Amino acid sequence: MDARSLKIKAAAEALTYIEDGMRLGIGTGSTAEEFVRLLAEKVASGLNVVGVPTSERTAALCRELGVRLTTLDETPSLDLTIDGADEIDPQLSLIKGGGGALLREKIVAAASTKMVVIADESKLVGTLGAFPLPIEVNRFGLAATRLAIERAAAKLHLSGPITLRMTGTDAFVTDGGHLILDASFGRIPDTRALSDALHAIPGVVEHGIFLELARVAILAGADGIRTLTTKTER
Ligand code: A5P
Repeated sequence: MDARSLKIKAAAEALTYIEDGMRLGIGTGSTAEEFVRLLAEKVASGLNVVGVPTSERTAALCRELGVRLTTLDETPSLDLTIDGADEIDPQLSLIKGGGGALLREKIVAAASTKMVVIADESKLVGTLGAFPLPIEVNRFGLAATRLAIERAAAKLHLSGPITLRMTGTDAFVTDGGHLILDASFGRIPDTRALSDALHAIPGVVEHGIFLELARVAILAGADGIRTLTTKTER
């Protein structure tokens, strides 16, 4: 089965978590886009939901397909967020931000009673970190912030290239107007320590390690769907 078919399978399974009247967080990325397409079909046949998009890209797709949108200012508490991930570990800690939407994704996930992650099973890893960690930073003081990240990582025995994300010849700019540094640290055994250390750096706006946010992961593979849940969800 090809990669797109697996994404569609995971997205379709996520629809079983949706109930009429729900306030949804709607993720970003190719898997989340498959979810939006399937959700839009349900909406067209009468499902009543409203969603907060995690990026301008997702907002545009929702508008195009007729999924009703709201904001976290109008609707500060959400019932359920459905989103993709770049890596998922067995505790359902995640690396996100490959699509550059990690800040809004984390704000929306944190405002939701429940987050369900959808992915193909290749995203499941033993330890996070093979995927370069996206770190959203303020433009001001970029070199100083990068140096501070390097030093904080070194204290945790982590090292590797930290590169400014580009779009062609220009720096990639997030929906919030910030830049992204992709940190190739390799395995990150203590994600909590790295998360705390990054949050302590003033120029870091947010990073792509998502801890204790996802409660369910729907993983699609050639043999079917596997659903992982956190202890609190069981
Ligand atoms: C967007 O910023 C990311 O967090 C995505 O959720 C993540 O990159 C997964 O994207 P795909 O579904 O395209 O792999």
